[in-house]
Amino acid sequence: MRPAGVPRTRTPSTNVSRPDPRGIPATRRRVRFETASPTQTEALGARLGRLLQAGDVVALSGDLGAGKTVFARGIARGAGATGYVASPTFTLIREYHGTPPVYHVDLYRLDRPEQLDDLGLDMVFDGSGIVVIEWAEHAFSWLPDDYLWITIRFGAGAEHRVLELEPHGARFEALLAQLGGRTP
Ligand SMILES: Nc1ncnc2c1ncn2[C@@H]1O[C@H](COP(=O)(O)OP(=O)(O)O)[C@@H](O)[C@H]1O
Ligand SMILES: [Mg+2]
Repeated sequence: MRPAGVPRTRTPSTNVSRPDPRGIPATRRRVRFETASPTQTEALGARLGRLLQAGDVVALSGDLGAGKTVFARGIARGAGATGYVASPTFTLIREYHGTPPVYHVDLYRLDRPEQLDDLGLDMVFDGSGIVVIEWAEHAFSWLPDDYLWITIRFGAGAEHRVLELEPHGARFEALLAQLGGRTP
């Protein structure tokens, strides 16, 4: 169930810095990274990807052009997944082939929240692969108890980005400790 007060419409720019509205307390172990180029953002994604395993869920939030797709590509590379193919059945889902596969869901083109039920998310969240989901605020109700929430913001310069990683659950807290980064 979508909690009251969470907009159903596509209003990500006012949403990106909000904590998880499901009432789970924001963790104190958030970490922050800054990147100065797309290459650096992809490399950070790859570092994260090397630590991920099947069943892990990474939720990406941030305005259009922030770098979510660049970061997702890095995750796939780090996880050892290559190629990038559209799902034959589901339009908003793509897959990087690998062991495990990386399912890349991009909800930017989600027209209606009701559409979520027919997207094939049950297949994506079945634990068989790593899940990376862009515009994750549109699919709160699908997130498992444990996930990594990442907000990407534009920085001062054209290629400057600030990534804030917020772990939900012990697994991602431990994983972030491995990844390093600064405390905001
Ligand atoms: N530090 C950076 N990290 C990521 N992308 C950057 C950075 N600096 C510039 N860019 C550019 O910003 C754009 C990000 O695009 P994309 O990843 O598709 O954004 P999103 O998926 O968030 O809409 C790309 O054109 C990329 O080259
Ligand atoms: Mg994108």
